[in-house]
Amino acid sequence: MKKILITGGAGFIGSHVVRLMVNKYSEYQIYNLDALTYAGNLENVVDLEGKNNYTFVKGDITDKSFIDNLFKQEQFDGVIHLAAESHVDRSILNPMDFIYTNIVGTVNLLNAAKETWKANYAGKRFYHVSTDEVYGSLGKEGLFTETTSYDPKSPYSASKASSDHLVRAYHNTYGLPVVLSNCSNNYGPNQFPEKLIPLSINNIINKKPIPIYGKGENIRDWLFVVDHARAIDLIYHKGPIGETYNIGGHNELTNLELIYTLCDLMDEKLGREKGESAKLITFVTDRAGHDLRYAIDASKIQKELAWVPSLQFPEGLEKTVDWYLSNTKWIENILSGDYEKYYENQYKNR
Ligand code: NAD
Ligand code: TYD
Repeated sequence: MKKILITGGAGFIGSHVVRLMVNKYSEYQIYNLDALTYAGNLENVVDLEGKNNYTFVKGDITDKSFIDNLFKQEQFDGVIHLAAESHVDRSILNPMDFIYTNIVGTVNLLNAAKETWKANYAGKRFYHVSTDEVYGSLGKEGLFTETTSYDPKSPYSASKASSDHLVRAYHNTYGLPVVLSNCSNNYGPNQFPEKLIPLSINNIINKKPIPIYGKGENIRDWLFVVDHARAIDLIYHKGPIGETYNIGGHNELTNLELIYTLCDLMDEKLGREKGESAKLITFVTDRAGHDLRYAIDASKIQKELAWVPSLQFPEGLEKTVDWYLSNTKWIENILSGDYEKYYENQYKNR
C-alpha cells in the first residue's frame, strides 16, 4: 500500500484533494497533515473519518524535528504539499507567519523527503501546489504561461514564489523528484469566509455591506475547487518529474461583475427582490499593492494531460451558494471563533 502525505488537508483546497484521493484510491493510505490554524477545520473532512485508508495527523510543518520524525516513522512514498498561509490581506498585516509556514515549512518538508528517499528516488514524488500570484500582475492583455518570469508583489505571493524556487532548486541540486502547479483563484464549498466569494455570500445572507476594494475593476480567473483537485490528481500521477503546470478556469471576471452575478443569484435563492443584495455593495479603500489582473494560459495541462474544467462558472457558483446556504452551521462555527476580531480589524476605517 502506498503512503501519501497531503499537507493542509483540513483547509479549503486540501480537503477537496484529500477527499478525492481517499475515495478514488483505496490502494493508497492517505495521511492528512494539518496544524489546524484558523483556516483549518476538521468539519471539512468529517465524511472521511473512520475510512480505512485515511489518517489525520495534527502537526506543524514549521516544526523540523516533528516533520523529520514523521517521515522517518511513516516512510511516505509521495507528498502533495498544500499547507500554507493563504490570504493576501493577512500577509499584509503579518508577513512573518507567511515566511515561516510557506518558506521554512516547505524547506522542512523538502529536507525530510530528501533524507528519507535519497537512497532511491524511484517511484517517489514531491508535489508542490502553488499559485498564479507568483507571476505578478497582468495589464489588460496577455496570459500567464509556465515560462512567465516570476514577479510577486505581495508578501503572500513572494513567500509562495520563494517556496517554488526552493522546490525547483532541490530538484536541480539533489535530484529530488518534484512536480509543481500554479493555479488561479479557486472558489467552491468550504472556502474560509475571509476570501471574496464566501465573505460576500455571508454578508448578503446577513444583509451586511459587501466591501469592494478600490473600484472593483481588478480581474481574477476563477476555477471551481473540485476541478483544481482533479488537476492535482492528474499532475501527481502523470506529470513528468521536474515539470510545472498552470491551472486556470478560462473565466476572467472583474470583481464587480462577479459580485453583481452573485447578488442576482442570492436574491433568487433567498427569495429577495432582484437588485436588493446589490444595494449592499460598498466601495472601500483599496488593498495595498493590489494586483490588477491574473489570467492563466492552461493549454499545457490541456494538451499534455487532457485536463479541462468540468463545469462553467454559473453552475459552479450556484453549487457554491447552495452549499453555503445549506451549511449555515459550518459558517456559524467559524464566526464564533477569532474570525470576528479579524473582520473588525480588517474592515474598520476602510
Ligand atoms: P487555506 O488557508 O484554506 O488552507 C490552508 C491549510 O493549511 C489550513 O488547513 C491550515 O490549517 C494549514 N496550515 C497552515 N499553516 C500550517 C502549518 N504551519 N503546518 C501545517 N498546516 C498548516 O488555503 P487554500 O486556499 O486551501 O490553499 C491551499 C494551497 O493552495 C496553498 O498552498 C495556496 O497557496 C494554494 N493555492 C490557493 C489558491 C486559492 O485560490 N485559494 C489558488 C492557487 C493556489
Ligand atoms: P481574494 O479572495 O482575497 O483572493 P486574491 O487576493 O488571492 O485574488 O480576493 C479576490 C479579489 O477580490 C481581489 O481582487 C481582492 C478583492 N476583494 C475585495 O474587493 N473585497 C474583499 O473584502 C476581499 C476579501 C477581496
